Amino acid sequence: MKIPNHIAIILDGNGRWAKAKGMPRSYGHVVGCDNLDKMCTIISEMGVKYLTVYAFSTENWKRNQAEVQVLMNLFRRYLKRCERSARKNGTRIKVIGDISALDPDIQERIRWAEEMTKDNDRLHFQIALNYGSRDEILRGMTRMAEDARAGLLPEGKITEDIFASYLDTAGIPDPDLMIRTSGEMRLSNFLLWQLAYTEFYFVDVPWPDFHKEQLLDAIEVYNGRDRRFGNAKS
Ligand code: IPE
Ligand code: IPE
Ligand code: MG
Repeated sequence: MKIPNHIAIILDGNGRWAKAKGMPRSYGHVVGCDNLDKMCTIISEMGVKYLTVYAFSTENWKRNQAEVQVLMNLFRRYLKRCERSARKNGTRIKVIGDISALDPDIQERIRWAEEMTKDNDRLHFQIALNYGSRDEILRGMTRMAEDARAGLLPEGKITEDIFASYLDTAGIPDPDLMIRTSGEMRLSNFLLWQLAYTEFYFVDVPWPDFHKEQLLDAIEVYNGRDRRFGNAKS
């Protein structure tokens, strides 16, 4: 079985999963977070080189403030825990998104996790926090315009490579497989540029129930896809 080099996952369905059990949505987030830990290890052991997960979108601030607080507290704890395990198992952590809107202590944890794991290269693990693809493109293009004004860009032609180098994902290859759990079939502002040629896999299983078996199903479907870029086979 061919293992995708880069898997991107929209972690969805925590709230509905908890509700179906008669529990508060926050319980779904706690279990979803534990599942992310486990799945990271499994994905790394499979030999996947890049994993990008969507954990909090630029639109998620519109949720009920108590739920946003629960999520922020979970990120606090998660970043610490994740940094410790990443150091041990050779994972490099990178957060994509506009972290300037997060509480200062969370920003500090992010910088620390990135710094402590920057020499690791077994699994490159990107966590999208306060991430929105449109926001990422606008932030990147604002910087690109500044560089153009300062005369730092070649005149006349902006190439795809130059554009991509201003995105939060600069240097990271595009995803091969994008998985969204819990039945919704939309991108919700996730990696709009980067997913141009990615294979999509939508599954009804909510994130807290998405384990190794479900991942293997996704990879099997991916293996059956006839990947094309234009008309050329990969
Ligand atoms: C995913 O689960 C976690 C985040 C978006 C932060 P949801 O909270 O979206 O759960 P549902 O989709 O409402 O069930
Ligand atoms: C997308 O899930 C964002 C994350 C998983 C972080 P949402 O549950 O917020 O997306 P919509 O609102 O259903 O599109
Ligand atoms: Mg959702």
